[in-house]
Amino acid sequence: MYLLIPAAGSGKRMGSEWQRQGKAQRNKLLLDLIGKPVLAWTLLAAEASSTIEWIGIMGQPIDFDDFNQILADLNLRKPVTLIQGGSTRQESVYNGLQALPTEAQHVLIHDGARCLATPELFDRCSASLKQYDGLVAAVAVKDTIKVVDETMSIQDTPDRANLWAAQTPQGFSVPLLKQSHDEGKAKGWEVTDDAALFERCGLPVYIVPGEETNLKVTTPVDLAIAQFILQGRTQQSES
Ligand code: CTP
Ligand code: MG
Repeated sequence: MYLLIPAAGSGKRMGSEWQRQGKAQRNKLLLDLIGKPVLAWTLLAAEASSTIEWIGIMGQPIDFDDFNQILADLNLRKPVTLIQGGSTRQESVYNGLQALPTEAQHVLIHDGARCLATPELFDRCSASLKQYDGLVAAVAVKDTIKVVDETMSIQDTPDRANLWAAQTPQGFSVPLLKQSHDEGKAKGWEVTDDAALFERCGLPVYIVPGEETNLKVTTPVDLAIAQFILQGRTQQSES
């Protein structure tokens, strides 16, 4: 299985965390999380997956020296390619798709910022691609979700039984995802995940059970929660 990791963001919502760690603001994936950069944890999960065979990381050239240092420290067995990212996540994935080896039939897209995804989640998504051409790891939402208008007045309360929170990995047939990205680019669609492009093209996308702990490290609070979860895992593996 081929894996593309969008890692070309700047981490604006992580703001103050850099100050706390005593450094100038950079890509949040370079922040320290119990002794390793956030991106290193994501890569270790991909390395431990039994289905991933090739990893592409989309990044900004300014981060490439740091990414290469992370790769040198991890010394992964799997081949890793650095790809130039774009100015949006959508553009970064587009660039990643162009850089896939020609033999790639299926691909998993997984945010660098979801550093708590387990190897088993990657493998579950890989296995489900035998059945589906489009899939998303997701969990049932726990909150009641409100639809609100510009005056902050509630317009609707959708039935929670039908609501799922989308995560990554998201998996696709390569030719169909390329086609959806091309169509999205031509029509100026702006989306926050790849499944949305597939959906807009009228292609079916299915849910695969995600993980409650598979949070996206977005704000300083997420980083603190990630630290707590990872420490729990380390203690478990030591006992
Ligand atoms: N990403 C990317 N290319 C971009 C923007 C985002 O590859 N131009 C990646 C991020 O590196 C991250 C994932 O997409 O792994 C999810 O994006 P998000 O959590 O929004 O990260 P940032 O854009 O870095 O954070 P922020 O929106 O707070 O600036
Ligand atoms: Mg962003």
